[in-house]
Amino acid sequence: MCETIYICDAKRHLGQVVQLRGWLRNLRSGKNIHFLIVRDGTGDMQCVAFGGNLPPETMELCASLGLESSLIITGSLSADSRAPGGVEMQVSALEVLQSVPDYPIAKKEHGVEFLMERRHLWLRSAKQTAIMRVRNEVEKAWADFFYERGFVRVDTPIFTPNAVEGTTTLFEVDYHGDKAYLSQSGQLYNEATAAALGRVYCFGPTFRAEKSKTRRHLLEFWMLEMEAAFFTQEDNLRFQEEMVVYTVERVLANCATELETLERDTSRLKPVQTPFPRITYREAVRLVNQEMEGREAEFKYGDDLGAPEEVFLGGQFDRPVFVTNFPARMKAFYMKRDPADPETVLGADLLAPEGVGEIIGSSQREDELELMLERVREHNLPEDAFQWYLDLRRYGTVPHSGFGAGLERIVAWLCGAPHIRETIAFPRMLHHMYP
Ligand code: 4AD
Ligand code: MG
Repeated sequence: MCETIYICDAKRHLGQVVQLRGWLRNLRSGKNIHFLIVRDGTGDMQCVAFGGNLPPETMELCASLGLESSLIITGSLSADSRAPGGVEMQVSALEVLQSVPDYPIAKKEHGVEFLMERRHLWLRSAKQTAIMRVRNEVEKAWADFFYERGFVRVDTPIFTPNAVEGTTTLFEVDYHGDKAYLSQSGQLYNEATAAALGRVYCFGPTFRAEKSKTRRHLLEFWMLEMEAAFFTQEDNLRFQEEMVVYTVERVLANCATELETLERDTSRLKPVQTPFPRITYREAVRLVNQEMEGREAEFKYGDDLGAPEEVFLGGQFDRPVFVTNFPARMKAFYMKRDPADPETVLGADLLAPEGVGEIIGSSQREDELELMLERVREHNLPEDAFQWYLDLRRYGTVPHSGFGAGLERIVAWLCGAPHIRETIAFPRMLHHMYP
């Protein structure tokens, strides 16, 4: 019996006879020869079935195989610089688990609609698996980053009794006769756990009932949220820079093959070093009005930065840019005012270059009980439901700050993915929930 290996380990088995288990990605045939590209999830291997070495039944079997047939294939490995991965197999035996005559996704280009309906199969294609692996790397990098710095991961609930980020984007569910909502953010709970543990983060699915049908909005997305006691907004911004740079470096170091598969121009990621530029919202308004091409109406102070403005602003720099000091009335109730400019908040959006827009939202939180109570009232939030949150300002309040980073938007940026839907295995979007 020979050893069964994964394709990613093939280089360690040169000269040996081994067994691979996987699926047929491609088949090319010549006179008395078949080139089977087999994938096993860890890589692709060119497997050469030569008539001189194999019985006619095996050659016929090869010839009959359709794409995505599942198989166990045995042969000897040799180095070949022309083969994908640099290793090639000379086939000595083939067992077909299932011969597939009619795989629906052909090699030709399909429309996105067609592929989205078949997302469960589309995921097998080389670009999609590359994106999933980059996503995996980012998740691992984040876990390492926070662990190395002594943060504690505390998972926050998904069923929540009230809104965090505004009531218009809540998904309501029936909680045994009571109303509950799917979480828009774990932040308020992070503020409680940060007072318990000092520095914390949560990472999980987040739900926004957005009516937006853009290439950067999902109804269900994954967000990492960090909260740190005694962090000022300045500490917070520096910490984000460090995390983003760490993430980019990890992906460049560990996902070179994937980025190549994605044809990602990595020279666009190399300038991502600290410090990141910062502009105030007021400067952003000025830039949009003075520099942005194709704008008709004036962009007014107080207008939300929409996708086109974010893409424009992000495009002005070679690395992400912080937009700071948004007018308080544009932002969430919990943000602390900037004492140097009290109309505005100690908060920032981090915009990525290359069209992805906002990837991180952050702020220092209002830590004074009286001011927080005022905000809760101004925003017509249910005071009763917020008593526990106000307790955090009653019992040992301290300055604290945090942020939320959208995983899919960051993966889209790193991969150069044209649309956020490709950065999550089964995207949930407006009018799209199948498969
Ligand atoms: O700016 P947001 O709404 O911030 C919060 O939820 C804060 N409570 C976070 C915190 O301070 N703890 O969302 C944070 C990030 C955005 O910058 C964006 O990257 C991502 O979450 N995001 C989305 N990603 C995909 N689809 C959507 N609909 C998103 N909405 C926000
Ligand atoms: Mg935001």
